[in-house]
Amino acid sequence: MTETAKMCTVRLAVIPAAGLGTRFLPATKSIPKEMFPIVKRPAIQVIAEEAQGSGITDFVMVTGRTKGAILDHFDRAPELEAVLERDGKVDVLSAVIEPTHLMNMTSTRQHQALGLGHAVLAARPIVGDRPFAVMLPDDLVQGEQPYLRALIDAHEATGKGVVGIMEVRPDEVSSYGIVQATERADGNYDISDMVEKPDPADAPSRLAIVGRYVLPSRVFELLEQTTPGKGGEIQLTDALCALAKEEGMIGVPLSGVRHDTGNVEGYITANVAYALNDPSVGPGLKQRLQQMLGDEDS
Ligand code: G1P
Repeated sequence: MTETAKMCTVRLAVIPAAGLGTRFLPATKSIPKEMFPIVKRPAIQVIAEEAQGSGITDFVMVTGRTKGAILDHFDRAPELEAVLERDGKVDVLSAVIEPTHLMNMTSTRQHQALGLGHAVLAARPIVGDRPFAVMLPDDLVQGEQPYLRALIDAHEATGKGVVGIMEVRPDEVSSYGIVQATERADGNYDISDMVEKPDPADAPSRLAIVGRYVLPSRVFELLEQTTPGKGGEIQLTDALCALAKEEGMIGVPLSGVRHDTGNVEGYITANVAYALNDPSVGPGLKQRLQQMLGDEDS
């Protein structure tokens, strides 16, 4: 395919949200990790807002058992709304209704936890042959512009599959998909190869995949052919490696700050970062943190 061969706008995002959240037990015993609050919004709403700001109109949630609360959050809540309306709590009422305007939501189940590639493949019957985004809900990106938009722009400009990338420390490369890439004149990267969670000695670079992707439907065929890789799982990275070798892929450098809410420290850091930016709690929190850290130093 030539760089100008395909100009498709991306309207649909697949959200793999079937994980058990074992790092957060016992909190995740009955609550999906994606519903944990980032200040007052559940993390999945932060993702939905980035998607909406990027032009996405449809969500395919790939869920498992115990994830019903995610779907309820994007639905109307008539009893709660009636009480808030009766009590004249107009602001809270609109905050409760807002998520229902963010997305058309469809969900499908990943019946077995066989890896990220397997979860994405579960969305195939709904996605069909359209290009689509994948957003990993553990990765929150705090920035001026919705980060996914930059990936969609790169897809529209080149017709190629796109991944978010960021530079990581050498001791971090074994926690990420790592790409081999060369910088383009437009500041993005041409990706020729990638490997999931390599040993630092074997890593082709320190450019790691962020959990944002824009992919052609061809990736489903490649996922069908993908055998279990790292950790015995069907890895999305392995299918994308095949795609990169077939027709090239583009890497879009991270703009903003990425938080990994998949681990406890990253989740708490994300909450502090978003809270400090929130005028309703930021100033008070800053003061308390300064006191706490000052007390610790003394
Ligand atoms: C997944 C991907 C990995 C990517 C990472 C970004 O790994 O497999 O390639 O770099 O997300 O967060 P996970 O963190 O789910 O193990």
